[in-house]
Amino acid sequence: MSLTYVVTGASRGIGLEFIKQLSSKGHTVVACARAPEKSEGLKQLVDNKKVYAVTLDTVNEASVKSAVEKITEIAGNGVDVLINNAGISGDRKYSSKDSPASEYMSVFETNVVGTSNITQAMLPLLKKSQTRHIINISSNMGSHANTTSGNLAAYRVSKAAENMLTNVLASDLKDDKFVVVSVHPGWVQTDMGGSNAHVTPQQSVQGILAKADTLEVKDNGIFFDYEGKPMDW
Ligand SMILES: NC(=O)c1ccc[n+]([C@@H]2O[C@H](COP(=O)([O-])OP(=O)(O)OC[C@H]3O[C@@H](n4cnc5c(N)ncnc54)[C@H](OP(=O)(O)O)[C@@H]3O)[C@@H](O)[C@H]2O)c1
Repeated sequence: MSLTYVVTGASRGIGLEFIKQLSSKGHTVVACARAPEKSEGLKQLVDNKKVYAVTLDTVNEASVKSAVEKITEIAGNGVDVLINNAGISGDRKYSSKDSPASEYMSVFETNVVGTSNITQAMLPLLKKSQTRHIINISSNMGSHANTTSGNLAAYRVSKAAENMLTNVLASDLKDDKFVVVSVHPGWVQTDMGGSNAHVTPQQSVQGILAKADTLEVKDNGIFFDYEGKPMDW
């Protein structure tokens, strides 16, 4: 079945790989990026028939409004799946002992507030579909079962908060039969993950989509990894 997906942070990394794999399966895909015209990878995929590019900075109110207007022009009959992939790691050098306020604010703004901004703005289009899936690309670094290493404190805190956002959305949208989930994509070879990472973007996205394709209303509020295994919150 051909569905309509909206993916944020689609200029590179995991987001761009979502566009590649979803479009190759024949789905309609709206690739949202801060500067789509600067992404050579994205430009190669956009055909304005099944794959569209829309400018979106998730932390900018005007950008969110304008993006959703454009998405409505493209997919006015409804959007089946929103993949909230856009995220930043912040500066790797900071731990909980020295992370400045500005670091917490900027990472939290992108990873939590940005995810909330676009999710809220997309609800009317998601409600037009019967599918109603929201997939938040989170991280094992936001799991309370994983509190060992010291770096990336703001990122860890933000991903824990993003996981709570998944849970409160799942609860608040339950009666409307939404399925809202968090996903750990693995340690992935992207600009964020670096070249030592264990998982390729292809493997990560293939695994996430294999699980995402099976999601049902009973799965609302789950947290899983790219191999489909359950994650501890
Ligand atoms: N890579 C890993 O090992 C790993 C592990 C766990 C979780 N994750 C999560 O997976 C997601 C994707 O990560 P990645 O590895 O693909 O990272 P990446 O290569 O650094 O790409 C991040 C993407 O997010 C976009 N973005 C950042 N801020 C944005 C904003 N305000 N509005 C819209 N887009 C914004 C970037 O756009 P620009 O090109 O414009 O900067 C880029 O497209 C993130 O949520 C990350 O936390 C990654």
